[in-house]
Amino acid sequence: MEIRKLRVDDYPELVRLWTRAGLPFKPKGRDNPEAIAKQMEENPDFFIGAFENGKLIGAVIASSDSRKGWINRLAVDPDYRRRGVARTLIAEAEKVLRQRGLKIFCALIEESNVASRELFKKCGYVEHRDILYFSKRDSDDV
Ligand SMILES: CC(C)(COP(=O)(O)OP(=O)(O)OC[C@H]1O[C@@H](n2cnc3c(N)ncnc32)[C@H](O)[C@@H]1OP(=O)(O)O)[C@@H](O)C(=O)NCCC(=O)NCCS
Repeated sequence: MEIRKLRVDDYPELVRLWTRAGLPFKPKGRDNPEAIAKQMEENPDFFIGAFENGKLIGAVIASSDSRKGWINRLAVDPDYRRRGVARTLIAEAEKVLRQRGLKIFCALIEESNVASRELFKKCGYVEHRDILYFSKRDSDDV
């Protein structure tokens, strides 16, 4: 398995991976090609892909709000699961965030997503059951 930064020309493969992994995305909002290209330009090291024989089999997008590092959009192709791909991607995302001086790493996970909850626990993350997520959106597409 090869781990490398994703580039703009990986976008079609990224969308294919998200679709195969069943990860919803916002093609008219923050996940559209222009938005992703802009995010990649601003933080090229935050877009991380796992490849096998040149094929994208897993990906993660790190982000920073300057206070905490976030692990976003983690996805592994169903044919390559339970081989440690996600664990490797989380470790790589933490590495790039540490390089930015961040010491707290977080993820938002749907309660029903048992695989992801177990994964993050295995990676040393503590589940907080006393926090509710609030958001405000300018539209459903963003
Ligand atoms: C969640 C997901 C990323 C895990 O990817 P993966 O590469 O299979 O995970 P790993 O092989 O690195 O798993 C590491 C550990 O996580 C836990 N884990 C992973 N998948 C699990 C599952 N389906 N059920 C229970 N535990 C699971 C296990 O403890 C596993 O260690 P083990 O295989 O030695 O038992 C993958 O199932 C996926 O892409 N799901 C759909 C998208 C998604 O939900 N993304 C997360 C959004 S927050």
